[in-house]
Amino acid sequence: MVSITGDMSPLHPDRNLALELVRATEAAAIRSVPFIGRGAKEAADGAAVDAMRAFLGTVAFDGVIVIGEGEKDDAPMLFNGEKVGTGKGPQCDVAVDPIDGTSLTAAGRNNALSVIAVSERGTMLDASSVFYMDKIVTGPEGVGVVDIRLPVGENVRRLAEALGKPVDELVVSVLNRPRHEKLIAEIREAGAGTRLMTDGDVAGGINAARHNARTDMCIGIGGSPEGIVTACAIKALGGHIQGRLWPRDDDERQRGVDAGLKFDHVYEADELVDSKNTIFVATGVTDGQLVAGVRRDGGFVYTESVVLRGASGTLRRITSEHLTSKWL
Ligand code: FBP
Repeated sequence: MVSITGDMSPLHPDRNLALELVRATEAAAIRSVPFIGRGAKEAADGAAVDAMRAFLGTVAFDGVIVIGEGEKDDAPMLFNGEKVGTGKGPQCDVAVDPIDGTSLTAAGRNNALSVIAVSERGTMLDASSVFYMDKIVTGPEGVGVVDIRLPVGENVRRLAEALGKPVDELVVSVLNRPRHEKLIAEIREAGAGTRLMTDGDVAGGINAARHNARTDMCIGIGGSPEGIVTACAIKALGGHIQGRLWPRDDDERQRGVDAGLKFDHVYEADELVDSKNTIFVATGVTDGQLVAGVRRDGGFVYTESVVLRGASGTLRRITSEHLTSKWL
């Protein structure tokens, strides 16, 4: 039983860690400012990675990146297996996405976030060998009600009933991709509305899980790393998430098997991240439902972030003003 303070021992990720980590997502968002809407997604990502890594190095914890920018050879920084933090303090698994929505950032479109998720060491599923995961995310009302194995029409009907609203008021967000054509048609046939996302299914999943949000479910195939990051947030919010790996070809499937991953298997929330003490922090890069995007206005840069803690079930919203002269 977790105490009311939510802190179990100095070896576990605690609230101070959560609040420290937000400095790293703020830094990544701020450093991406010169690239927002400038058509340069690699440059935006590079600036965010550099800033996040520099700030993570100052945080008092012993972190290992489980979900990073890719394997060591492909990504020189924040690679899977890299140690982050001062090396003192709680031992943690770390998932980073310095910008979820690099194309959104380059285009200046809504919903790009800078994200870090943390849980106790050994609790995050390393799904990095398989690029895509099929996912379903809802708020707490969907727990024990929707199931990724069911036809989407059935999930739509069940969730509408659990939410106590007519099916035609239900809104489902889906990445707008050719692979989702049938899924989108089935959601509409069931009578629900769709919100087609250009990119950014971490924000899409969290928005669907939040109380009084404008979407009720987020479904479909997106990145596997994004699935683990989203699971850390959903566990803190108390919603529902399931994932099923979606290999692009036999080689990828084999790499997954070699890495110990299971196919034709539904990963429940506790298998995606086996912890009740997840931390999720996100700062807005561009405007979205969850947080406002970073904004430079003369001498100041403004950021908005959320900090979610599974141990206490708290969602904190942090707005900060930064001196432009110190940053850009
Ligand atoms: P990036 O920021 O790495 O570009 O990811 C954006 C994103 O939309 C994720 O949110 C999503 O999970 C994934 O890409 C979907 O992949 P794809 O664009 O290949 O369909």
